Amino acid sequence: MAITLLLPFLLLFPFLDLAQKGYAHGAAGQVNHLIETSSFLPATTCSSSISTIKDLENKQSSLNIVHRHGACSSLFLDEGQEKTKTSTEFDPEEFLKHDQMRVEALHFKLTKRSANTQEQSAKATVLPVQIGASLGTANYIVRVGFGTPAKYMSLIFDTGSDLTWIQCKPCSKFCYDQQDAIFNPSESTSYSTINCTTRICFESQYATGISPSCGDSASCVYGIQYGDQSFSLGYLVNETLSITSTDVVNKFTFGCGQNNQGLFGKAAGLLGLGRHRLSIVSQTLKKYGGRFSYCLPSTSSSNGRLTFGAQKRLPSSVKFTPMVKDSRGPSYYFLNLVGISVGGKKLAISASVFASSGTIIDSGTVISRLPRTAYTSLQSAFKQFMSSYRSAKPLSILDTCFNLTGYKEVRIPKIALLFKGGVTLDVDPSGLLFIRSIEQVCLAFAANQDDKDVGIIGNTQQQRMEVIYDVAKSKLGFVPGSCA
Ligand SMILES: *[C@@H]1O[C@H](CO)[C@@H](O)[C@H](O)[C@H]1NC(C)=O
Ligand SMILES: *[C@@H]1O[C@H](CO)[C@@H](O)[C@H](O)[C@H]1NC(C)=O
Ligand SMILES: *[C@@H]1O[C@H](CO)[C@@H](O)[C@H](O)[C@H]1NC(C)=O
Repeated sequence: MAITLLLPFLLLFPFLDLAQKGYAHGAAGQVNHLIETSSFLPATTCSSSISTIKDLENKQSSLNIVHRHGACSSLFLDEGQEKTKTSTEFDPEEFLKHDQMRVEALHFKLTKRSANTQEQSAKATVLPVQIGASLGTANYIVRVGFGTPAKYMSLIFDTGSDLTWIQCKPCSKFCYDQQDAIFNPSESTSYSTINCTTRICFESQYATGISPSCGDSASCVYGIQYGDQSFSLGYLVNETLSITSTDVVNKFTFGCGQNNQGLFGKAAGLLGLGRHRLSIVSQTLKKYGGRFSYCLPSTSSSNGRLTFGAQKRLPSSVKFTPMVKDSRGPSYYFLNLVGISVGGKKLAISASVFASSGTIIDSGTVISRLPRTAYTSLQSAFKQFMSSYRSAKPLSILDTCFNLTGYKEVRIPKIALLFKGGVTLDVDPSGLLFIRSIEQVCLAFAANQDDKDVGIIGNTQQQRMEVIYDVAKSKLGFVPGSCA
């Protein structure tokens, strides 16, 4: 049975709020999008359709998603408190720098894996900085319940990691400030610790990259380190996980963090949606058949959703591309990207370029990364199409920018990513540009330094489409326009 979690939409990110005020989808066959530049203005207020935490918990079928930097991050405000943060506090350079940190950590990890590095021990007081993927900055937050009775917590959701963890009392070393009350195991009747001599404890190292150790009373001690020096250390435990009030996973294994530090915002922890052992997808394989899907909306007026299990209403038109196994990183969702088209024309990029880098789809990376050879080709076609517009200086990792001052509307080419199996991802217009201001509007793709580094389909390019993960059947599909 499919459990659909309706996400009352919360604005992802003020500068990407293209769709709200009107761009025209090119009619079928057209090669470009006509976008009104008034839509470039950052939204500073939230849509009134946003539910409060109370609404969400009453309905229970809704799971809230909020972007940490969105104008609508009201999830983290007290009830009734007005959103006072203005978009001017948002620093695009810092934001893109953190995105690059995530990508560099991810590249490092994938390169290191193949170089057969020795495992680190969770006992070590100084954890290696490089292990694990950086969390980046563009984190989507979901709310799920832990324990009996269920206590609902906001977690960062991440398809790039496996282990789920939350901060736990008594926070014997350190807990950072979080929005929800910190989970207290002693208030739950379904909590149990895991003995460090068990197989599940031993196997947690595949999810963390760090060997577990034995703590007090033979407890299993895990440690996980993210690329930006964020980390969580604590006990591996079993507990009841409530996805909704009626949809419950018993004996869900996750980390109960006693020492947690880093860039987690005010989230209570992280929900690991990776492909490998211990991820929520793996642990619920029987229940949901290894299926989940999400839709990342792009405007403040639309609804998104996260669905676990097979969907009832799958359009017959949906095509799937195979997920590829790659020894470099079993947690990641590797796909076979085979080409790119701009303005309806397929670029002349040799298939070997994509074959040698490999490509993953990642919910936590913001801007898609391409092998340099492929990026250069994309950039040149895009620039050619946009040649009537004045160019502007680069913005951090984005080097193809335009000054659109004075234009009421602009024409930008359609961009599509082509995958094995004839699957085409027509990037939504909201996923093509990163807008700092009307004077600096940039193509939202970037190049990898090394052509061997893995390519990444980031969340900007996944906006407004349903992304269907079928892990059991090892395939992934896109349904464009299935969320607004
Ligand atoms: C942990 O497991 C070992 C091996 O089965 C057992 O000897 C030990 O008593 C267990 N410890 C606790 C605290 O349950
Ligand atoms: C924890 O959960 C796992 C998976 O459900 C199960 O195999 C294991 O026996 C459980 N251990 C304890 C101590 O509950
Ligand atoms: C953008 O173009 C306008 C109009 O030509 C110009 O006045 C402005 O200085 C330009 N901005 C930048 C940052 O170059």
